[in-house]
Order: sequence, then C-alpha cells, then structure tokens
Amino acid sequence: MINPFYGRDIISIRDFSKLDLEYLFRMSDKIQKLSHDELKVLAPGKLLGTLFFEPSTRTRLSFEAAMLSIGGGTVSIVEARTTSIEKGENLNDTVKTVESYVDIMVLRHHMEGAARFAAQITQKPVINGGSGIEEHPTQAMLDIYTLLKLRGRITNLKIAVIGDLKYGRTVYSLLYGLANFNPQIFLVSPPDLMVRDEALIDLEGKAKLSQHENIEEIIQDVDAIYVTRIQKERLPDPLEYEKVKGSYVIDNKLLSKGREDLMVLHPLPRATEIKSEVDKTPNAKYFIQAQYGKIVRAALISLMLNEQPPN
Ligand code: NCD
Repeated sequence: MINPFYGRDIISIRDFSKLDLEYLFRMSDKIQKLSHDELKVLAPGKLLGTLFFEPSTRTRLSFEAAMLSIGGGTVSIVEARTTSIEKGENLNDTVKTVESYVDIMVLRHHMEGAARFAAQITQKPVINGGSGIEEHPTQAMLDIYTLLKLRGRITNLKIAVIGDLKYGRTVYSLLYGLANFNPQIFLVSPPDLMVRDEALIDLEGKAKLSQHENIEEIIQDVDAIYVTRIQKERLPDPLEYEKVKGSYVIDNKLLSKGREDLMVLHPLPRATEIKSEVDKTPNAKYFIQAQYGKIVRAALISLMLNEQPPN
C-alpha cells in the first residue's frame, strides 16, 4: 500500500479512510519494536514547529518527544503572548515565517478552520493540534489505537462518549474516526451539551448512535467509556458552567455496574469528572492512552516525512 500520509496535511480525521488509519496503526506497532538507533534515522535533521495558541500539556509535549525520538528537533511557540502576535502580527504572517524554518508544523488555535487555513498558505505539511470546537484528529488517532491495543480490535465496539459533547473537539474527531469501524456509540451528556447536529447528520448510516442523559442506563453494555471535560473556557456564559458542572462523575461505585473489563478513557486534562479513586482500578486506561500519544505521533510524523517507511 502507498503511504497515505506522505506529504499530507492532517486537518480532519475525515480526510483519512479506514485503511489509512490501519496503516498508521501498523506503523505505530513498528515504532515500538525499533531500537533507539533505528528510530533516530526516521527524521534526522528535520525540524517540527509546534505553534500552540491555546494551552496544552500532552499534545505539544508528546509531539515534541515523538520528534526527538525519531532524530528530529523542535521549535515552539507556547504562548502567543511571547511572540509578535502580541504586536498585532496575524496568523498568515506567523505561519509564512515559521514555514521557512521547519519541515512540518503542528498548530493549535482557538478558531475553527485555523489549521485548514494554515495548510492552504504553506507548502509544508500542517497537523491540526486542535482547532476551536471543531476537531483534534491526532487525539482520535491515539484514542482509537488505544482501543485497538487494549481491546485487541476496533470493529464492532460499544462505546459511551460522555460529557461535553457540544464543545469537546476530541469528541468529533473520535466519532468520525470510529465511524470507519462499525461502532455502537452511546452519547451521554446533559441536555445543554448534546452533540452538535452536524455530527449526527454526518454519521447517519455510518454508526449506530443513541443519546442518553444518564450513564447508568447503559454502563453495563459498553466496552469503553470515553469521558470528557466540560470545556468551561468555550461556554458562552459562565452561568452555563454552573448549570452543568458536576453533572456526571465517574467513580468506583459507578464502575462496579459496568463490565469487569470496562475501559475508562479520557483525552485529559480531567477536572472533576473522574474521581482519583478510579486511577487505581484496572479499568483506568487514560494514562496509558496518553503514552500511546507519543508513539502514534512518532509514527505519524515518520510517515509524513518518509515516503518509504521502514519494514
Ligand atoms: C483536549 C483538547 O485540547 O481538546 N486535550 C488534549 O489534547 N488531550 C481535551 C480538553 O482540553 O478537554
């Protein structure tokens, strides 16, 4: 199969097929088997620019750690405040400048469409590291890889996606990505944070979907629950946050109602939606999920930079 990631932008997970995602997952498996020296030749002398105009821990650091692990280097904007954006420079000029320094860039921005815009104005490949409430495709790639590794398959899984389904961008990429694998998805949220219609329309006929307010109704049926944080900073009114905060909490009592091997996933950061007591249970998979972030991102960058990946 021709490497479907070579030279491509990664803007929406909808731009990639089931076969493409499986190709990425095979490369992710390979990455884990390569020695330090074999990894180092995947991106020697190449530079990744991480342009982060919103906070990040895992996405930025895992991209940077991934790039270093395959022999490349990184330069970063970690706060717009420390760049010429503070002096009024626009995104166009920032991207046009950075493109002459780097081989590939990751952009996180509060505006929907920002990554697509960046990709259109630069010849260098752009990875969407989160675009407003729209999408976060590489998060979904690692989420689905986590399911594959820990459940042994992706096809026909029953997954509850819980929390802020209206503003959580990871949710959209996950739903679109999972739709390739015939899932049954239970969308669980307070009424004010239900998934946006655009996704329901897009997913019609591609995934079995149902909407719920109460996790207890369905917890006994699912392979995994994917918990998300209420996107406090994206809610239009602080009063809305007061209305919904604490409306769902995953604790050991709730987990006891699910299957013994129920997986609890979360893109992190968590606020109050998963109690820390859950961390000690075998169900808690969110930190392993974050570890897979570095592996999947190393695989992705390697494929974007090398037409012929290692055997
Ligand atoms: C998420 C994001 O930025 O969308 N974080 C991440 O990349 N793992 C989730 C969130 O902020 O709630």
